[in-house]
Amino acid sequence: MAMQLDFLFSKKSGLILGTALSAVFYLPTSHASGVFMHERTGGQIYVIFCSQCHDSGWEGAPVAQYKSDWEERLPKGIDAMLQTVISGSMAMPPNGQCGDCSEHELRHAVEYMVTFEE
Ligand code: HEC
Repeated sequence: MAMQLDFLFSKKSGLILGTALSAVFYLPTSHASGVFMHERTGGQIYVIFCSQCHDSGWEGAPVAQYKSDWEERLPKGIDAMLQTVISGSMAMPPNGQCGDCSEHELRHAVEYMVTFEE
């Protein structure tokens, strides 16, 4: 027991704790800068960032996976729609509110939104 307590307060345990803590704080920032970028799926991006408007059609947002809301928009193609998302449009903030989304992730989110059950 005494040994364990000694260890807890020893320099060595401080070093281990410090390393563990800095790993915890290091990961989120490196994630944002893309070093350990782990790509999220379109569905994940959608649920986190887009669904708050695109589930309900808030402010005229086309409802995800609801075909008739997309029929006018689809002919311009995914690329053009992706550009709208990146630059923002009317009530939609730039990047659809996802500050750290890559273009790739946003594209997958758009593709997810225009996937319809026949
Ligand atoms: C704050 C609400 C809001 C959020 C969050 C939001 N959108 Fe939108 N979105 C809108 C609105 C409103 C429109 C309709 C804008 C228009 O007609 O120009 C729209 C339009 C779109 C369109 C159609 C663009 C076009 O060219 O026709 C796509 C695609 C889209 N959003 C994708 C996304 C994606 C992907 C996300 C999440 C990463 C997202 N949106 C997040 C409100 C939002």
